Amino acid sequence: MFLLFWFLCSLVLTSACSDHTLCVNHKPSSLHVEGPSGPLVVPLGGAVLLPCSAQDPLPLEGLRVEWSRTDSESVVNVFQQKEIRAELQSQSFRGRADFFPEEISRGNFSILLSDVTPEDAGVYRCGVSSSQDYRETTVEIKLSERLVVRGALHPIFTSVGEEVILSCSVDSQIPVHQLEEVTWKKYPDIPVLLFQENQTFSEFSHESYRERAEFFTTEIPRGNFSLRLKDVRMEDKGQFICEVHTADLSGQTTVIIQQIGFSSVQICILLLCFTSLTLAVGLGAPVFIFLHKRETDRRAMIMYIFLAFSPNICMFIAFGLWSTEGFLSEVIICSAVSLARCLMLMKTAPYLNTLPERWVREVKTLSAPLYYTIIATVVFSVEFANRTGIQYYFYNRDLRLAERSILVMAAAVYGIGSIISARFSLRICSFLCLEVYNCALLIVFIHDESDTPDIYNMISGVFMVMLLLLSLQRHCFQQKPFKCLHIGVSFFPVAAACLLHASVFACFGIRMKNFAHVWTLPFTAVMYVTVWIAVVFVMRRQHENKKPRCSKWRGTGYVCCAVGVSITVTINGIIYLHFLRKHMTAKDYSGYSALMVLLHVLPPAVLFDHPRNIPKLPHIILHLFGSSGLSVVTSLTLALELILKSGTGEPRTLPEMHIIILPFESLFISGWIALQIYDTWMRMRRRIKSNFEAGGEADLQVGEDGEEMEVLSSLSKSPEC
Ligand SMILES: *[C@@H]1O[C@H](CO)[C@@H](O)[C@H](O)[C@H]1NC(C)=O
Ligand SMILES: *[C@@H]1O[C@H](CO)[C@@H](O)[C@H](O)[C@H]1NC(C)=O
Ligand SMILES: *[C@@H]1O[C@H](CO)[C@@H](O)[C@H](O)[C@H]1NC(C)=O
Repeated sequence: MFLLFWFLCSLVLTSACSDHTLCVNHKPSSLHVEGPSGPLVVPLGGAVLLPCSAQDPLPLEGLRVEWSRTDSESVVNVFQQKEIRAELQSQSFRGRADFFPEEISRGNFSILLSDVTPEDAGVYRCGVSSSQDYRETTVEIKLSERLVVRGALHPIFTSVGEEVILSCSVDSQIPVHQLEEVTWKKYPDIPVLLFQENQTFSEFSHESYRERAEFFTTEIPRGNFSLRLKDVRMEDKGQFICEVHTADLSGQTTVIIQQIGFSSVQICILLLCFTSLTLAVGLGAPVFIFLHKRETDRRAMIMYIFLAFSPNICMFIAFGLWSTEGFLSEVIICSAVSLARCLMLMKTAPYLNTLPERWVREVKTLSAPLYYTIIATVVFSVEFANRTGIQYYFYNRDLRLAERSILVMAAAVYGIGSIISARFSLRICSFLCLEVYNCALLIVFIHDESDTPDIYNMISGVFMVMLLLLSLQRHCFQQKPFKCLHIGVSFFPVAAACLLHASVFACFGIRMKNFAHVWTLPFTAVMYVTVWIAVVFVMRRQHENKKPRCSKWRGTGYVCCAVGVSITVTINGIIYLHFLRKHMTAKDYSGYSALMVLLHVLPPAVLFDHPRNIPKLPHIILHLFGSSGLSVVTSLTLALELILKSGTGEPRTLPEMHIIILPFESLFISGWIALQIYDTWMRMRRRIKSNFEAGGEADLQVGEDGEEMEVLSSLSKSPEC
């Protein structure tokens, strides 16, 4: 009986077991669903993979996967009947919670939830039911304690002068008044713009971004702190960082300006540089050949003139355009040098004598002083406006007025004076005028109170020595006439020096209330006048006696004076460099000394008369160096500076461009002086030789230039000893 019952039962059970649903607990199941071990931490706005997978692939037949939230009825996504049932998704998950369709057949039911919002925090359930079984796993999403700040997805490409928008927006869930601070910085640490306590602070900005960077005020309440950057510059290239801080969270985003193209102005500059370079290089060779053959036909002349002027004019315009980016002093000095160079090129031209005679004379006498005056005046005005002007008006209203007026007057009088005296061939005077102009420049450059009396003292001493040596050389050893005009003209620098001493004494003595510093000035002034009166007296006497000296004695005296003058000129230059060094930072020093060297090389060029016999080849080479070489240097410097600036994104690679251009210019002028000295030396040797050999015929050549007063040029006829 019991056996029968057992048999029946097992029969029922066996038949029941053919219906699988009743046997779940009896058969070993293959369904095993896995999720993550801990909660997932997600940033706001980010995306997160919610993992859920079965150990073995499941047949798709009868498979249903449902992702839902445990704490509400929301359905995240459903897979059923072999397809994804997006229409069953709750509204809040539409379009941002997706299965990986190709993974489902491998038993991987993970979904990717993107654009995570604060509401997405919570526990999610992944329920998997196959035809026989059901398993589930849960995943918890926690929001990370970070502020989500969104920037631009792509790097920005722009060009100079354009406007760009650097985007930065804070997650809209956080009200703007909870933000303590939003800062924009240029990498590594240049402040661009600050937003704090509901206000924008532009004082915080670095000066290069003031007026150029701003927020969109109407967008700020929406948490949009995008930056409008106007008038983009080369140095803006790089990373901009937007940092946002609330009381306890912070976040940041980076926007990259990857490349900044050239603006139309910069393309113009590059084209001008290129034109100048091509002209200088292309015309250099034919001009050399023509000059060598001494061609003076129309075609050759046009080419000569074109080479001398066109590259320099191109560079003048290029520097003018560069003014939007370069420093004021640099732009002005470089453009003045480019334009004024044409004057020196005409003076050094081997074909000068084939030009109309009227021009030739003006070019010979006026080029050098004009060249000097143009450059010096330009430098003087810029420096004067930069340094004295502003400081003067703000700090020290009354007493500097005298000093300022003296400076401006000295600069004007001596600039004009040098040109006028050069025009009338008063070369000593012209030379000294230029040296005084240099002194005015030095004072403007350093503009330091305590050293100014020393500078005046030292430099006027050097001037007196130069004046003495040059006058002796001219009137004693060359026996040039020493008339009232010369006495008058030579008294002018002496009187000016005395006046300067008196006014410096007055200004400084009164201002500093300390005469200890300046007490020597009146004495030296009196000494200068006395010495000069004595010298004039001696020279007049010697001249009236008309007692000729023997040529050997005169030759020696002449050479001694020439050496003396070169030594004083050198000492003078060293004094200037010394004071510059003392008062300038190392960075400024290079620019100013390059300028000072050029301005000191120039006055001696004025001292010589125009050379008559220069060896042909050095002359042509020097002229070509000036016309081709200097244009090449100038255009390459500007073009390279522009290209390097765009390449590196650094503000500047060179501190100032004239540091490169001016030394070459000085080299050119020095070369010319060397040719002048050579010419003078050859003429003097010939003269002395002929004095001994042929007696009276020596002054044939003097006749050509009879009116012109010669300084270091030639010895006139001298009787035998
Ligand atoms: C499931 O698929 C996703 C997307 O391809 C992948 O990242 C994840 O590692 C997969 N999970 C498993 C357990 O293979
Ligand atoms: C911030 O400034 C805006 C406009 O400037 C103003 O509408 C808003 O009320 C201010 N909010 C606070 C919290 O001061
Ligand atoms: C922020 O404002 C700027 C300017 O109106 C706009 O171009 C940008 O798309 C805005 N960003 C967002 C995320 O709304």
